[in-house]
Amino acid sequence: ASRILAASMSTVTEVKKITVIGSGLMGAGVVQVAAQSGYHVNMVDLKEDFLAKGEKIITSSLKRVAKKKYADDAAGSQKFIDDVMSRITLSTNSEKAAAESQLVIEAIVENLKTKQALFKALDAAAPQETIFVSNTSSLPIGDIASATSRLDRFAGLHFFNPVPQMKLVEIIRTAETSEDVFHTLATVTKKMGKVPVACKDTPGFIVNRLLVPYMMESLRLVERGDASMQDVDVAMKLGAGYPMGPFELMDYVGLDTIKFITEGWYKSGKGLVGDKLIAPSPLLERLVAEGNFGRKSGKGFYSYEGVGADKGK
Ligand code: NAI
Repeated sequence: ASRILAASMSTVTEVKKITVIGSGLMGAGVVQVAAQSGYHVNMVDLKEDFLAKGEKIITSSLKRVAKKKYADDAAGSQKFIDDVMSRITLSTNSEKAAAESQLVIEAIVENLKTKQALFKALDAAAPQETIFVSNTSSLPIGDIASATSRLDRFAGLHFFNPVPQMKLVEIIRTAETSEDVFHTLATVTKKMGKVPVACKDTPGFIVNRLLVPYMMESLRLVERGDASMQDVDVAMKLGAGYPMGPFELMDYVGLDTIKFITEGWYKSGKGLVGDKLIAPSPLLERLVAEGNFGRKSGKGFYSYEGVGADKGK
């Protein structure tokens, strides 16, 4: 009964301005969907050059959206793009940006110490009510939150690549995350056109907890010589209805990323230490050592040379 009472008493923080820190692949995507949904957004990165790169990701993505939405209406299309861009402010000062926001979304490098240092500084600069979230894929939210004094106003907000297309957002609640914060994040993500799901602070949350062991077992199937990678991909597409086979998916995600995530969980992650499901794979190790990271480097399990990193095979 006390749980129900707590839930009904919880309020939702009104979010007007969002700060996104990191304007890379994920950060730029989050800035775009937030601005497209009517939020004012500060986009922060370390240098002007990086911000310009993020801005370019957004404008080319918006052009694609506008083409679909406005077809031959060039004026309407330009107005749509200008409108969205007018709600985005670029900044290299994360503390000043956070200080004027109700929600801070962190999407910087996947390194615990770097994330903790950033949040420690932001904690001192931002109002007490400001909600902090991390878009981390593999680090425990509680470990990042521990650098701050706002454990109740800290959560995970895990978007998927490519952010404008992928509907899902995982909201990660630590034992301390308040109901108010959870409901606020659910409201904000729904306004962004996403579908939020809730998960505790456990390695891989929902999607990667299931997907990563599946990818690793695909590698082992091939390593054992049980089947070829081409046949595994065909089998999962036509037999399980998956849009991509596991090898195509690994090439898309990045082989270095998969190695980094599994290594982290295997060695230091909570709950999965030494777990056979995510033990190192010699095939994956070899490709990464050779610099074959998947689509982004032109070659992984398959070759993408001359195709463009974000295009089909
Ligand atoms: P990225 O390398 O494309 O972008 C990171 C950006 O953060 C860079 O522009 C960098 O200059 C900036 N940055 C680094 N340190 C900073 C600091 N202290 N202050 C401000 N900016 C800083 O990385 P990506 O792929 O966008 O990943 C970002 C986060 O999102 C990571 O935590 C990653 O685990 C997570 N993530 C990544 C997904 C993916 O598919 N790439 C999917 C879901 C989550």
